Amino acid sequence: MKMDIVMENVSFSYGNKTILEDVSLHIPEREFLAVIGPNGGGKTTLLKLILGLLKPDKGQISILGKVPEKAVHRLGYVPQDTSNYVQFPITVMDTVLMGCLGEKYSISPTMKHRLQAINSLEKVGILDLKNELTGSLSQGQRQRVFIARALTTDPEILLLDEPTSSVDLDTQKAFYDTLLELNSRMTIVIVSHDLFAVTSHATAVACVNRKICYHSEGEIKPEMLELAYGTCPVELIAHGIPHRVLGVHGEREKLSHD
Ligand SMILES: Nc1ncnc2c1ncn2[C@@H]1O[C@H](COP(=O)(O)OP(=O)(O)OP(=O)(O)O)[C@@H](O)[C@H]1O
Ligand SMILES: [Mg+2]
Repeated sequence: MKMDIVMENVSFSYGNKTILEDVSLHIPEREFLAVIGPNGGGKTTLLKLILGLLKPDKGQISILGKVPEKAVHRLGYVPQDTSNYVQFPITVMDTVLMGCLGEKYSISPTMKHRLQAINSLEKVGILDLKNELTGSLSQGQRQRVFIARALTTDPEILLLDEPTSSVDLDTQKAFYDTLLELNSRMTIVIVSHDLFAVTSHATAVACVNRKICYHSEGEIKPEMLELAYGTCPVELIAHGIPHRVLGVHGEREKLSHD
């Protein structure tokens, strides 16, 4: 099987604070990987390592068979925090066109790039906002701008860092439908705290909390919850997490409270 993302024994620290330790991950082509884990567990750091924005202290990373810096133009990225853009006087259309910068257009974007940008704005349902300033939009609308930006170059791998955290329920559903459609031609890695969405769509789940626990099925395992939240599945049921995510160790049997 062709592997799009390979991490071997990767460790990363900010100063003397270890964020990821001895993480190995093999993500095959067309996987729909959901990354879960607690705040500060290292999920965003993991995506930044994949993008080549951060360098590992130890271990190797290979993206589409290359070092991350050589593959970055074939990746789409929706960052977690888009509030930096509030300060810049830049339109929605121009923000989305920035997604094509990796394709090196000279001086100004070509007609092809404009059509790609229009197409991806249409996909996320905000073409009517194309002349608005990105900074003047609501947080949810701005998240959609960044999803459109990530899609402009039809990437081979799409990385999304909590892309629906400010998006309303109807839009979330449409968004996950779009992701499923995109997944037929690209690998998807999505960080999400929405465990229900994760189990409904993902083909694999990784839980990150300094270490990584990976499972090549779209199902959350009790050991992941333990790594993430240090809690037992029954407590999570009490907090309303759908019981169907909780397979019993090593079995397909389900805990049920029906
Ligand atoms: N630039 C930075 N300098 C120093 N420490 C950082 C920096 N960025 C992140 N950290 C620390 O690294 C740890 C992991 O951060 P990261 O953003 O990867 O977590 P996360 O799993 O994405 O969390 P969240 O769910 O809140 O988004 C945190 O303790 C954070 O404080
Ligand atoms: Mg994060």
